[in-house]
Amino acid sequence: TPPASVRIVEVGPRDGLQNEKAQIATADKIALIDRLSATGLRSIEATSFVSPKWVPQLADAAEVFAGIARRPGVHYPVLVPNEQGYERARAVGVEEIAVFTAASEAFNRKNINASIDESLARFAPVMARAKADGVAVRGYVSTVLGCPYQGAVPVGDVVRVARALFDMGCYEISLGDTIGVGTPGKARAMFKAVAAEVPLAALAVHFHDTYGQALANILACLEEGAAVVDSAVSGTGGCPYAKGASGNVASEDVVYMLHGLGVSTGVDIDALADTGRWLAALLGRETGSKVGKALAAA
Ligand code: HMG
Ligand code: MG
Repeated sequence: TPPASVRIVEVGPRDGLQNEKAQIATADKIALIDRLSATGLRSIEATSFVSPKWVPQLADAAEVFAGIARRPGVHYPVLVPNEQGYERARAVGVEEIAVFTAASEAFNRKNINASIDESLARFAPVMARAKADGVAVRGYVSTVLGCPYQGAVPVGDVVRVARALFDMGCYEISLGDTIGVGTPGKARAMFKAVAAEVPLAALAVHFHDTYGQALANILACLEEGAAVVDSAVSGTGGCPYAKGASGNVASEDVVYMLHGLGVSTGVDIDALADTGRWLAALLGRETGSKVGKALAAA
């Protein structure tokens, strides 16, 4: 049975926007985050302090972070790939970061130009500084249900990397189906295998919806006790270094499903759906959330 409540980690401002080709104004990114924090969301991934050459869309990370109206009780984690990113983030007052690696070597090389073990070694000094500074660290494992370059990914590889991040001090491990190829049976088996090695309370699921399986995959993991779900308002998203990756599961759709199951999220679905349609209009397209569309028509 699903847990009584679930924490949504809204990744729209980061994962949602990082792949957008047209440059989005800094003020619009700030407005998006401030709208999201008014919906009851408690975790909003705000931006990435990665190399601006690698992800030009988020080159304004410092300005975005400095511009948001930080709401008490809301966490605003940011992606940090290395010590340089850590310094840039701390300079503007970041209090929570996320480091990221993958379960497949080929994807990791393309995404962060490092092997899995090199990336873990690169995180070690970041973790040490974060610990000293009282900064909370989340850890991502990408390609947990498939890799665009390698194909199938052994569950044992996912478990090893998740365990390594947890042992290094990450308080939460987010399991990413980067290219959205997973199906519920595989998602459940993967989640159970990781939960045998990392405490259930420290696990999150991060499913992209390329093949329309994300909600079903989330439900399978909820039944195994998952209580933290990553999603992006309006279903935006995709990793620029993962061929074929498309949007994250839409936050509106996840919240609608959870509320229907009697699981509380603390999120105002109407305010969230409004924000999703506002973002879609800003990006010049229809919302990627079926719930967002349905609520507009209702
Ligand atoms: P590199 O080229 O190997 O790094 O990139 P380097 O250390 O050799 O540095 C190269 C240049 O970048 C230097 O500048 C550095 O100063 C600069 P230059 O001397 O050429 O002028 N640089 C930086 N600048 C600003 N901030 C920094 C930084 N670091 C280096 N932090 C690196 C290695 C990791 C930096 C690069 O590969 C990178 O930034 N990759 C990020 C890719 C990315 O953001 N991908 C998307 C996020 S992951 C994702 O979406 C998956 C997820 O959603 C989960 C899922 O769905 O599975 C999380
Ligand atoms: Mg992602």
